[in-house]
Amino acid sequence: MATVISTLHGREVLDSRGTPTLEVEIELSDGSLGRAMVPSGASKGEHEALELRDADPKRFLGKGVLQAVRNVNENISKALLQKSFSDLKSLDDCLIEIDGTEQKKKLGANTILGVSLAFAHALARSQKRDLYLIFNELMGLRESNLSMPTPLMNILNGGVHANNGLEIQEFMIVPHGFSTFSDALRAGTEVFMHLKAKLHDQAYSTAVGDEGGFAPSLESNEMALELICEAIEKSGYQLGTQISLALDVASSSFFNRETEQYDFRWKQMRHLSGEVLIEFYKHLKAKYPLVSIEDGLDENDWGTWKKLTHELGPSTQLVGDDLFVTQKKYVERGIKEKVANAILIKVNQVGTLSETMDTMNLGSKHHYRSVVSHRSGETEDVTIAHLAVGSGCGQIKTGSLSRGERTAKYNELLRIEEKAFRRGRPIRFENAFRA
Ligand code: PGA
Ligand code: ZN
Repeated sequence: MATVISTLHGREVLDSRGTPTLEVEIELSDGSLGRAMVPSGASKGEHEALELRDADPKRFLGKGVLQAVRNVNENISKALLQKSFSDLKSLDDCLIEIDGTEQKKKLGANTILGVSLAFAHALARSQKRDLYLIFNELMGLRESNLSMPTPLMNILNGGVHANNGLEIQEFMIVPHGFSTFSDALRAGTEVFMHLKAKLHDQAYSTAVGDEGGFAPSLESNEMALELICEAIEKSGYQLGTQISLALDVASSSFFNRETEQYDFRWKQMRHLSGEVLIEFYKHLKAKYPLVSIEDGLDENDWGTWKKLTHELGPSTQLVGDDLFVTQKKYVERGIKEKVANAILIKVNQVGTLSETMDTMNLGSKHHYRSVVSHRSGETEDVTIAHLAVGSGCGQIKTGSLSRGERTAKYNELLRIEEKAFRRGRPIRFENAFRA
């Protein structure tokens, strides 16, 4: 079905950090409207596609996106208006061609992504189908591949998402041993509540960081895991069989390029080699039900990554975020060199939905799992909830159980699950870490 774009409009709105971001609206000739907003990271991978910002210090400390807005309303509008597109891929290809650079430096990946996302929403409206079904079809999958994802919930924040000194950026709970998404969500939320009470009782701060997790100044990274395990036990859930743990170390943020060491600064300065970090992860695995480690090593430290994968890969999900930046060429290298075994999927690291889905398909062909992910700077946009269900990838990382921009995705997943059940076509919950 060919689709003609009749209106295209970009505007500057705010994200969850109060930083400007792009919102795009597309109207098709049949009146279907699609609207979407673009997320933004803080611990960005070096090789991510370009996020275009105005750099005008008089507006939003240089973080405005008026140039991206102009790119949508002028250049892109000129090229797309009244044109007909048979599917999302043909629109994305056209955007890639207009930009013409590998990292989307001319128009900005945020600009291009805004249009790609809005068009996907408009298509779903036009076809009167749920967005996840559009993704399912575009990935060449069947409805039997749909699944509700296991959530990876970042309930304790450190790294650049907090100012508590902990090096590890995300301490996540993974409620996987449940039969529905809503049960998994409830369990995670109860743990979050118990953790809050525990922190409060021990006179730690219960203020939250960028992704809605608590950000207390704990004595050590390990103490974070200890407290989380206690909160899980207090909630009455079984550690390991029902709820496991995951980390996003985001180690590029404390990797010292000159010395090639990992600098742990909290409480006491320690310079660690990649090999010592691997031993640290093994130690954590022996003590806690740790099922997934993201960016355990620096994005350019491929040699040590290979060692990590060899030693921990068989027993642990090793996720490449900054390492792969959702781009096929880095995943191809990973496959070739046997590095990591899962890909973090962030739509704005690559800049179009079609390329995102290609990366996921490449991964699954080579048994690399995909984890669909938000960014630390988010909006109320819920596209990623649909991408997780439609792709059937089995996992979503969308923050903690507080802050509207995080719960927006969880709530959309609840709607998807409940509606499918009501229609008599339930979508199965994927236990991504069956014990
Ligand atoms: P970011 O962090 O969005 O700030 O890059 C998320 C992550 O590292 O997974
Ligand atoms: Zn990450």
